Amino acid sequence: MANFVYCCFSLLLLLLIHHCFPSAEAAAVYNITDFGAKPDGQTDSTKALLDAWAAACGSAEPASTVYVPDGFFTVGQAVFTGPCNTNGVTIECDGTLVAPSDYLVLASAGQWLKFERVEGLSIFGGTIDGHGSSFWANKASDSGCPNGAPSLYVANSNDVLISGLRSVDSQLYHIVIDGCDRVRVQGVMITAPGNSPNTDGIHVEDSTNVTVAEALIQTGDDCISVGPGTSNLWIENVVCGPGHGISIGSLGKGYEERGVENVTVRSTVFTGSMNGLRIKTWGRPSDGFVRGVAFEHALMQNVRNPIIIDQNYCPSNINCPDQNSGVSISQVQYTDIQGSSASQVAVNFNCSASNPCSGIELRDIKLDYDGKPAESSCMHANGTASGTVVPPSCFL
Ligand SMILES: *[C@@H]1O[C@H](CO)[C@@H](O)[C@H](O)[C@H]1NC(C)=O
Ligand SMILES: *[C@@H]1O[C@H](CO)[C@@H](O)[C@H](O)[C@H]1NC(C)=O
Ligand SMILES: *[C@@H]1O[C@H](CO)[C@@H](O)[C@H](O)[C@H]1NC(C)=O
Ligand SMILES: *[C@@H]1O[C@H](CO)[C@@H](O)[C@H](O)[C@H]1NC(C)=O
Ligand SMILES: *[C@@H]1O[C@H](CO)[C@@H](O)[C@H](O)[C@H]1NC(C)=O
Repeated sequence: MANFVYCCFSLLLLLLIHHCFPSAEAAAVYNITDFGAKPDGQTDSTKALLDAWAAACGSAEPASTVYVPDGFFTVGQAVFTGPCNTNGVTIECDGTLVAPSDYLVLASAGQWLKFERVEGLSIFGGTIDGHGSSFWANKASDSGCPNGAPSLYVANSNDVLISGLRSVDSQLYHIVIDGCDRVRVQGVMITAPGNSPNTDGIHVEDSTNVTVAEALIQTGDDCISVGPGTSNLWIENVVCGPGHGISIGSLGKGYEERGVENVTVRSTVFTGSMNGLRIKTWGRPSDGFVRGVAFEHALMQNVRNPIIIDQNYCPSNINCPDQNSGVSISQVQYTDIQGSSASQVAVNFNCSASNPCSGIELRDIKLDYDGKPAESSCMHANGTASGTVVPPSCFL
């Protein structure tokens, strides 16, 4: 069944990547080569891309398209700002946008491709290559190194579609959705080495009504991470690994924090990842919360922590004054989670002593530890189990 899902999904991904380019008739089309961009991998095409955006965004037509033809276009920091005159702008991309070879250009700017305040944005196809490797090496050896730049950052925008995009080797996060409503990210393929630092695949925060569907994500950090202020998030058909899994959190770093509510994660496959389905909070006072989460139909293949809630996050053990998380976690359902754990504790609810986890539901769980029996661990966690639950639940 899982293999079947995986095959169908792979096929779907290919179909999406190869056949999902809409016709651009009826809309004004701005070809970036007409603005001086060169597909030679050398020429700085930043200004050409921004000029094409300005033309498309300012167009008097009802809709407009920026077209990036086949080829390698070197592009530095580029901020695409709305609101636009049109009802929507499409970026149709057959080519590859390549980060400048000097990683400091983006790392110092803290951003690469950023969309801000755009109503109706569609991005179809294309590859963005953040060329992160020299940045990661420097980050490891130089404590004064800047934080780096996420590759694609969509901020304060509504009605956004990102379809068939490939993102490779970002310095920092690959795709960030922040402060948005009604976003669909579909058929994306995200790859970075398993040991690359903080290269999260997709990060969603302060956003509502976001869907992520049919994604293949291999990174050095979370495949998908969910930050504060996220509600009505739907994640479906995601293949993850290597990476740190699909993670709600880290939450509760600050005291005043918007909660996370109504998240569904359905039909996922995790391969060799550090975590599968994770909720993670700082061991610090906070008024944040997580409630109404459904994790359904997941296949774990050699995953270190297939099911984990960790409320004790405190890197280097500093800045966590009482080590109890203030984030309340409730109504979390796990249904049909199967496969193999790479550690003995396959189900780990390590909740807060001051805010115990409540209303956890386990239904049809079948996880082993490399063919041997696995274990569950509960700290300050309560809930119910139904159907076959292996390893058996450890609720009060
Ligand atoms: C865009 O410009 C390139 C280079 O001039 C050309 O090959 C291509 O056909 C153009 N495509 C469109 C859709 O205008
Ligand atoms: C999100 O979707 C829901 C349900 O369709 C809708 O009621 C809501 O207005 C949307 N946006 C926000 C910001 O909640
Ligand atoms: C929960 O989110 C889904 C979309 O992910 C939406 O369809 C549904 O209406 C939301 N439920 C509530 C109670 O807001
Ligand atoms: C729970 O968290 C504490 C604090 O980080 C840690 O010492 C302990 O090993 C964890 N328990 C399990 C079962 O992972
Ligand atoms: C744990 O949850 C069950 C079912 O919701 C409830 O009956 C029980 O009283 C709870 N136990 C504690 C100690 O909260």
